[in-house]
Amino acid sequence: MLDASDTAKRHQRSVVGPPLDFQHHLRLLEERGLLTRIDRAIDKDSELHPLVRWQFQGGLAEEQPVVVSTGACQEIVIKGSGLVGPGEGLASLPIPVSTPGFDSAPYLTATLCITRDPENGVQNMGTYRGALKAQDRLGVRMSSRPGGAGGYLHWRKYQKRKEPMPCAIVIGCAPVVLFTGPQKLSVDQDEMAVAGGLAGGPIRIVKAATVDLHVPADAEIVIEGLIDSEWLEPEGPFGESHGHVALEDFNMSMKVTAITRKRNPVFVSIISQVTPSESSVIKKVAFEPMFLAHLRDQLGIRGIKGLTMHEPFTNLRKVIFLQFARGTARTEVWRGLQGAASLRADCGKICIAISEDIDPANTDAIFWSLAYRSNPGEDVQILTHRSAGHGPKSVVREDATILIDATIKHDMPPLALPRREFMERARTIWNELGLPAVSPQAPWHGYLLGDWEDRYDVYARRAVEGRWAESGEETAKRRREGLIPETPVRSIEKLAKKS
Ligand SMILES: Cc1cc2nc3c(=O)[nH]c(=O)nc-3n(C[C@H](O)[C@H](O)[C@H](O)COP(=O)(O)O)c2cc1C
Repeated sequence: MLDASDTAKRHQRSVVGPPLDFQHHLRLLEERGLLTRIDRAIDKDSELHPLVRWQFQGGLAEEQPVVVSTGACQEIVIKGSGLVGPGEGLASLPIPVSTPGFDSAPYLTATLCITRDPENGVQNMGTYRGALKAQDRLGVRMSSRPGGAGGYLHWRKYQKRKEPMPCAIVIGCAPVVLFTGPQKLSVDQDEMAVAGGLAGGPIRIVKAATVDLHVPADAEIVIEGLIDSEWLEPEGPFGESHGHVALEDFNMSMKVTAITRKRNPVFVSIISQVTPSESSVIKKVAFEPMFLAHLRDQLGIRGIKGLTMHEPFTNLRKVIFLQFARGTARTEVWRGLQGAASLRADCGKICIAISEDIDPANTDAIFWSLAYRSNPGEDVQILTHRSAGHGPKSVVREDATILIDATIKHDMPPLALPRREFMERARTIWNELGLPAVSPQAPWHGYLLGDWEDRYDVYARRAVEGRWAESGEETAKRRREGLIPETPVRSIEKLAKKS
């Protein structure tokens, strides 16, 4: 039975959480414009369900995003001759050179390039670079490799139709919207809806001024245009996020039809090139959870604890570390390695499984793990025929995959650093002495790895208490003759192991 305070709690919950009363729920939907009332009579047997059925054939637009009739991004609309006068058009934007000394032109970098699938009408937003070619022309690079740009898949469809591809390039918008541009969503998943989900409310979009696309209404600047679906133009060199300069490739050419903007817009650029850079930082936060969720939730890999994509120079894609709990079955470790290597065509050339105690951000610890915990004869596999992925084209056209199990497989003696309590006490002293602040990086204290004996705990305790001579008296009684140095004691005395 509920008492008065329970009832009050329930009521409170209905105020802060989801409504617990159906009519309350309907009222909330109506307040948010999500309820459609139909006044005319509808026959419940012959008309009602068929009427609702049309909702699943296009029907009413669902929340996310919401179309508005005007947007701040169109306070100023420049088109036609306004684009080509002296200093006008693209020349009026403060577009920087990213890699001075190598780049062939100023480049748009912090873009959201919006295109629409001409068959199903779904929009895609991708962050693709745009090279200044003329006051009203851009070179646009949409990657054609497997797992590359969603915009490229649209372009192929316009090419078949022999039509130019409408494109709107957004420069500057809410970070939650911009963030979705470089992320790897499924083909045909509209990034604008995902941004709405992240923002907790629909993104306001407005119809572009000269092309049939919708753009974020509150964007700073939008460059609209048509991309030729037949003729490609040399584009590059440009400093790439794989850490080399991309040389000239034939890429897309976009004729600008309008530049729309706020009255006082803020121009945005992003640093890419050698990683870490803004380019890898923006991807890392979403790529790593995507891979981990794939291994843990889709493949159900047991024992997987963490996944890290190596960032400096390698730009996340090439090297992946998988952390496993101690005692994970070897078969699960290998299933995890194979899953990480195959999720995306351009990610996972080198996949290394490590144990939970190894910090994947510490390259020295990785080498330590490879050196002492793996046997290359048993723990390494090479799989041929991997796509070359994202990298300099002059080097390699086809690549391979290397999988390494560097997890701990057998009990080992402790890590040879002072135990945690000694290090912590010493750190307190360090701080009290006013010495410069330390920045501990794991491992900074010793710990057990399975191979240890009670007798050694006794020795160690006596050692720090200054009673080492007692241990010496004991070992003196255990002396043996006829052995060569370095004969393990346990091979003679058969001491019991402590796990
Ligand atoms: C700063 C930056 C620049 C990028 N430049 C390009 C580019 O020029 N061409 C490209 O295809 N991908 C580029 N990418 C990667 C794409 O944004 C990424 O593959 C994204 O998933 C594309 O969205 P889509 O899958 O909807 O096409 C860039 C990413 C960042 C963060």
